[in-house]
Amino acid sequence: MKDPVRIAITGGAGQISYSLIFRIAAGDMLGPDQPVILQLLEIPQAMDALNGVVMEVNDCAFPLVKDIVATDDPNVAFKDADFALLVGARPRGPGMERKDLLEANAAIFSVQGKALNDHASRDVRVLVVGNPANTNALIASCNAPDLDAGQFTAMTRLDHNRALTQLAQKTGKHVTDVDSMIIWGNHSATQYPDLAQCKVDGKAAFDLVERDWYENDFIPTVQQRGAAIIKARGASSAASAASSAIDHMRDWALGCDGIVSMAIPSDGSYGIEEGIIYSYPVRCQGGKYEIVQGFELDAFSKEKMQATEKELREERAAVEHLLG
Ligand code: NAI
Repeated sequence: MKDPVRIAITGGAGQISYSLIFRIAAGDMLGPDQPVILQLLEIPQAMDALNGVVMEVNDCAFPLVKDIVATDDPNVAFKDADFALLVGARPRGPGMERKDLLEANAAIFSVQGKALNDHASRDVRVLVVGNPANTNALIASCNAPDLDAGQFTAMTRLDHNRALTQLAQKTGKHVTDVDSMIIWGNHSATQYPDLAQCKVDGKAAFDLVERDWYENDFIPTVQQRGAAIIKARGASSAASAASSAIDHMRDWALGCDGIVSMAIPSDGSYGIEEGIIYSYPVRCQGGKYEIVQGFELDAFSKEKMQATEKELREERAAVEHLLG
């Protein structure tokens, strides 16, 4: 049996974690031969609820779970963490402006960035799920100067997976037949789900679907999917978000075939401003991700990519004073 790895999860008593923790404990993220120590973080008011979750994890008698830590102290939660899934965030309250939301979350993610910097494993891989995910990841990373910025990522894999299914259903194929799906930019309504490189069963997606469907149905459907789920379910997407977080971390750690979307620090690729956390097409191998280069971009794509980049630059400007 391998040595256990430490997995920190914030917002441990929340909706996403109620699916995420159990699937990680079952081995879905790192495989059936990788024991785990779960280090769960909550705010003090939610510690009772978190303890209830811990009771349930214990009641599952998962063979892979070697220990569980439940705490309201980020320094404890991130101690020696090999993986950190930052799910907990401040939701938008009534009358809260976007700037207030950014600032409230900046306060959380700067503290967590510092705690990761001071206590996590030097190889920690961080995934930010809590919204606004890209900018929260930037804030955490800026507050962790001793860690490489590339260790901080944000989740656009749910958008990627949503886009795969929309295209597969439209073309009457299976998600596994779809290749080279790309989500560019921010995990927000400005994200750009791009089919220009996409193939379905080896055929160019643009030869299989109408341009009108692409621009006026596919793109807004993927962009607005979160709101559609809230409307239908009366609650936000939690199980699918958890599943996508697992996909993101599994592929990063263990590698995968083909292209996936990850929001990562821009290195200037495709003309995007360096430093912002921007979703790119990546390949994952050997525990690392790498931006897929060389795609030709038409005017439509460039405009969409710049619109979502602009939003990320504005988000960064709103929290500039907290970036350390
Ligand atoms: P939730 O409200 O059910 O749970 C959030 C939990 O985080 C709560 O239990 C809360 O007490 C906790 N929390 C708040 N501040 C914390 C802090 N400083 N430290 C530790 N825990 C803290 O929300 P849910 O549904 O689990 O969603 C979590 C976040 O994920 C939200 O921001 C949501 O918008 C985001 N999200 C992101 C997606 C993505 O694709 N990137 C997809 C779906 C949701």
